[in-house]
Amino acid sequence: MKTQYYTAASLDGFLATEDDSLDWLFALGSIEESSYPEFIANVGALAMGSATYEWIVRNAEKVVEEVGSPWPYTQPTWFFLSRQLPQIPVAEIRFVKGDVSRVHEAMLEEAGGKNIWIVGGGDLAGQFFDAGLLDELIIQVGSVTLGKGKPLFPRMVLSPALQLTSVHQLGSGMAELRYKVQRGSDESAD
Ligand SMILES: NC(=O)c1ccc[n+]([C@@H]2O[C@H](COP(=O)([O-])OP(=O)(O)OC[C@H]3O[C@@H](n4cnc5c(N)ncnc54)[C@H](OP(=O)(O)O)[C@@H]3O)[C@@H](O)[C@H]2O)c1
Repeated sequence: MKTQYYTAASLDGFLATEDDSLDWLFALGSIEESSYPEFIANVGALAMGSATYEWIVRNAEKVVEEVGSPWPYTQPTWFFLSRQLPQIPVAEIRFVKGDVSRVHEAMLEEAGGKNIWIVGGGDLAGQFFDAGLLDELIIQVGSVTLGKGKPLFPRMVLSPALQLTSVHQLGSGMAELRYKVQRGSDESAD
């Protein structure tokens, strides 16, 4: 049971443009031809920030096109936000704020032994990292640059460095990199 940050990013480390566009990503290939189907089958709970939630609400048509439904997940989902936002009428969503550790405990209880997916954004993934709760980063690096935008992972991770565990080429448009988060007591490679 791992807590994973699984996302796509541009080569220069952005999740989305400054105005939250993901058009660059959809042009790079189909989600069904990536590791996503296998990944999501092993996810029991999700967490995301308010901008990611708002993107899903705003782009319902695009989401239907990609995954066949305006709400793409069957797993319970926790949304971090500090404002009131319109709620999609889906039973399995919770709005939360503040400390990620407390929410992580609740997610573990409801994940049914499966993995926890931190969908994004980057700072939310960073908050789970800061709390020592993030186990793995799985990043599909797109063969494009955005120049500026929403950051992939705005943290300084130097020592111990992340441990690169796999590299997988997805055509000419993407490379998937997997990293294990090494902790003080967990630095040796296994
Ligand atoms: N490339 C990809 O595969 C991928 C993956 C995920 C997301 N995205 C996109 O990347 C962009 C990410 O946007 P973003 O960087 O702004 O990140 P975000 O995490 O989606 O949204 C940030 C907001 O989340 C809320 N938040 C975060 N931590 C919180 C906490 N502990 N307590 C309460 N609220 C908290 C705050 O909302 P308030 O304003 O309410 O305080 C904060 O302003 C979006 O456009 C998304 O669609 C792309």
